[in-house]
Amino acid sequence: MAVLLDSASVDDAATAAELGFVHGITTNPALMARETKQPLAHLERLLAAFPSGPVCYQPARTSYAEMDDEARAASSLATDRVVAKLPATLDAIKLAAALTDDGIRCALTAVYSPAQALLAHEVGCVWVIPYVDRAARQSVGGLVVVDALAAILARLQSSTRILAASLKSGPQVVDAILHGAHDITAPLEVLRSLPAHPLTEAAVQEFAAAWTEA
Ligand code: E4P
Repeated sequence: MAVLLDSASVDDAATAAELGFVHGITTNPALMARETKQPLAHLERLLAAFPSGPVCYQPARTSYAEMDDEARAASSLATDRVVAKLPATLDAIKLAAALTDDGIRCALTAVYSPAQALLAHEVGCVWVIPYVDRAARQSVGGLVVVDALAAILARLQSSTRILAASLKSGPQVVDAILHGAHDITAPLEVLRSLPAHPLTEAAVQEFAAAWTEA
């Protein structure tokens, strides 16, 4: 299992790098737009702030030629680390096949159906990325989507992994894994909240008080 940070903030990336349990970063054009007008230059800063592991970069534009140019430019910054993250459209799946043939790792994102996962497997994507909370907000059932992706990929004995995204709380992270996601990506505040439990906090207070009183 791998835990990734879902953010394009350099500060978040540097903080996550120190946590010890974060394996990489996912970004998307909306997250990038909050930070920069020059996403490729910004990607270099993210790679420096988070010095090892995969960084998923999603092209801002959506035509085949534009995605191709942007994905290859992103990959050229660190071929061993940058994963081209592409929306699960026909053009993007075709592009993922071409990029994978050229040694560029790809992930299909905004995945909501087993058919999309099946094609991700066929073209050799490393990840399919379902949006759990977005699906739940549309009454699609975010965990139902994860169940379906897990079933089809298991049936195919696929090496394509499920990276659950759009996770807004610790319980949603845990549920995604319980429903068959291999890996998760979440914002920094969600990752930092994962160990929080009132009884743990109470125990810490109790032990600290005992030590002070002794
Ligand atoms: C995943 O890689 C996306 O960046 C993200 O999780 C999308 O969903 P959200 O906008 O609901 O967080």
